[in-house]
Amino acid sequence: MCSASTIRALIGAAAVCAALTLTGCKDKSGSSASRPKEIVIGEYASLTGTTATFGTSTHRGVQMAIDAANAEGGINGIKLKLLTEDDASKPDVARTVVTKLIAQYKAVAILGEVASTRSLAAAPVCQQNQVPMITPSSTNPEVTKKGDYIFRVCFTDDFQAAVMAHFAHDQGYKRVAVFTDMKNDYSVAFAQHFAEEYKRLGGVIAAEQVYQEGDTDFKAQLTYLKAANPDAVLVPGYYSEVGTIARQAREIGLSVPLMGGDGWDSPRLIPGAGGANGALEGCYFSNHYFATELKEKVTQDFLKAYQAKYNVSPDALAALGYDAARILIDALNRCTKYDGPSIRDALTKTRDFAGVTGKITLDSNRNARKAALILQIKGDKFAVYKSYTPEQIGQ
Ligand code: PHE
Repeated sequence: MCSASTIRALIGAAAVCAALTLTGCKDKSGSSASRPKEIVIGEYASLTGTTATFGTSTHRGVQMAIDAANAEGGINGIKLKLLTEDDASKPDVARTVVTKLIAQYKAVAILGEVASTRSLAAAPVCQQNQVPMITPSSTNPEVTKKGDYIFRVCFTDDFQAAVMAHFAHDQGYKRVAVFTDMKNDYSVAFAQHFAEEYKRLGGVIAAEQVYQEGDTDFKAQLTYLKAANPDAVLVPGYYSEVGTIARQAREIGLSVPLMGGDGWDSPRLIPGAGGANGALEGCYFSNHYFATELKEKVTQDFLKAYQAKYNVSPDALAALGYDAARILIDALNRCTKYDGPSIRDALTKTRDFAGVTGKITLDSNRNARKAALILQIKGDKFAVYKSYTPEQIGQ
């Protein structure tokens, strides 16, 4: 593990390199900056740790996109080299590995992370070094506000949480209790944006409680929430705790529907809740994409290729990882120089890109505007229940 001073030194070194690249100097390999031997792309991902399925799925999607681009000859004949670092699902490690990818491996662009807390930790490193970062799936509004080098290809939580508020309202829920992971930036923002919109629609927040990642006993908080007699409970957390929360809710007799967001999307979600027809049966969560929903050729081709390679259907993380990498490749194809500022400028011009998760336009705040799906848990599967566009909820 690097010390803080080593990290500072590395950041400084990377900044000098970026400046040299800008002036068109030769790099160590002797090739000119505008025509390098290869283009190094860095990826940081939770391949291990509490949310390992997030990083694993995303990485698979990213790798597929990079392999496909290389099979077609790379960028202008230059091969892409993907270097992936595991951040063990930890924000401090995320920061360290991103520093390493930029300073040591000279990555000219960074893909990652899924979790907003980790993207928020590493984005300043990318920004300071003028290396564009594209998060496939971090939805906290603050992520892209870290600077003009930080992009995302997904919607934000002020939209996603508002969708869940409209959904709750449309379902006829008059009182919703909220159970938040207090150390998770995604969870906190989700809860806050949900409450704002739900109250505006006339709903009542029946009660609020918090937990922390890694907790295993949620019964005290759930008992408190039950006493408020809610029609539903919003749990905007990650799959790692949601299954246990659902089981314990049922054990203490809290039987109303649970609702969540994209953080529920994992092949581990239903097993964690006791399997098919278990504690999450009939519950709802918002998500970015559903494998069979989009009929476009690019989505169908991706589905087939992913299924053939990994023998599972791609979740939203895999699809967004693929889209993030393809948006970067598309920008690189429009570049004449492969340095951070040139790639950043090309990324800002992304319009109507045919992603597997839908059409992607990067707006002036470097965010994407897309519809959200509401999925329902049925047996051992997720099923599309409903969808909302930004226009439908007045955004
Ligand atoms: N949106 C979540 C966050 O910002 C991450 C996530 C995205 C998780 C998609 C699962 C699926 O933290």
